[in-house]
Amino acid sequence: MYSRIAGTGSYLPAKVLTNADLETMVDTTDEWIRSRSGIERRHVAAPEESTSTLAAEAARRAMQAAGVTAADIDFVAVGTCTPDFIFPNVGTLVQRHLGIHDTPAFSIETACSSFMYSLSMADKFIRLGEAKCALVIGAECLSRIVDWNDRSTAVLFGDGAGAVILTPSETPGILTTLLSADGQYSDLLYFPYGPSSGFDKLRAGAPGGISMKGNEVFKVAVNTLSSLVDKTLAKAGVDKSEIDWLVPHQANLRIIQAAARKLDLPLERVVITVQDHGNTSSASIPLALDAAVRDGRIQRGQLLLLETFGGGFTWGSALVRY
Ligand code: ACO
Repeated sequence: MYSRIAGTGSYLPAKVLTNADLETMVDTTDEWIRSRSGIERRHVAAPEESTSTLAAEAARRAMQAAGVTAADIDFVAVGTCTPDFIFPNVGTLVQRHLGIHDTPAFSIETACSSFMYSLSMADKFIRLGEAKCALVIGAECLSRIVDWNDRSTAVLFGDGAGAVILTPSETPGILTTLLSADGQYSDLLYFPYGPSSGFDKLRAGAPGGISMKGNEVFKVAVNTLSSLVDKTLAKAGVDKSEIDWLVPHQANLRIIQAAARKLDLPLERVVITVQDHGNTSSASIPLALDAAVRDGRIQRGQLLLLETFGGGFTWGSALVRY
């Protein structure tokens, strides 16, 4: 038994912040942002929106594409590093928004790899016969944890959500997933306040947002993703020439280009959406996947390589016959 992607969906908040808008907020330029990251604009959630409402909207669209209803869903996994609350988890809030009852529902906090970790969990539940219709989401409101005065991070991140529905299939589907992490790098990319560490400072109005040593993150990301691609292909017994589409984490155009070079893939066969929404962490892969499915680039039967890298560091991949 395998799992297959039965439908995809995504949602971006209406408000758009362009590089030109950022030029009026911090000491930066459109040229700097484009040349270093490839980003042109990002979306920002409205005050009444939250990670779970973005997630639920993406989920509705994925359910519609898959032709399933809330009553069919029997597993809910959400990847996010910007949950609405410490608890209840975003999975249960999505259940509530959509009217899903009596299923496992949880969120995973492996930063930009959270969607991949969630997808891998859902895949295993379906393979084991313990789920028949899994809702897997990546959703973020990073605008809420960015320090808008810090030009080195404020220009990079955005809000959004993407979702897939996984159902059982006798043929793959998801051929393999690969997850990994290395905590020795935890101080290169992190958010400095949490419930058991620094929460009192946050309550007292401490400044700061996402902390990132961009250059060092860049180097480790490129090297790690390069070996991840090799390991994933070897695990599945697939040659890189068989890949139809690379659907990478949309953090930075230069990191994406390096991964494409490694696969000898022309950029025309890489789904690139970072220019339109910046780094949306766990949401970026399902957002890119949905964009390419809906505009007809990705066709049924094609082989996709999904790969990601994020804070922790954490990383992961999936080889998917769409
Ligand atoms: N506008 C103008 N200048 C800026 C800005 C800005 N927004 N931000 C930084 N600078 C300046 C710096 O102050 C520095 O100036 P200095 O030389 O006078 O000190 C100069 O630009 C160069 O800064 P670098 O950090 O060396 O720039 P770099 O070329 O490395 O690009 C970037 C920075 C885009 C962050 C890059 O390192 C990068 O992409 N790293 C990976 C980050 C990433 O992808 N993170 C997410 C991956 S994991 C995840 O998604 C969670």
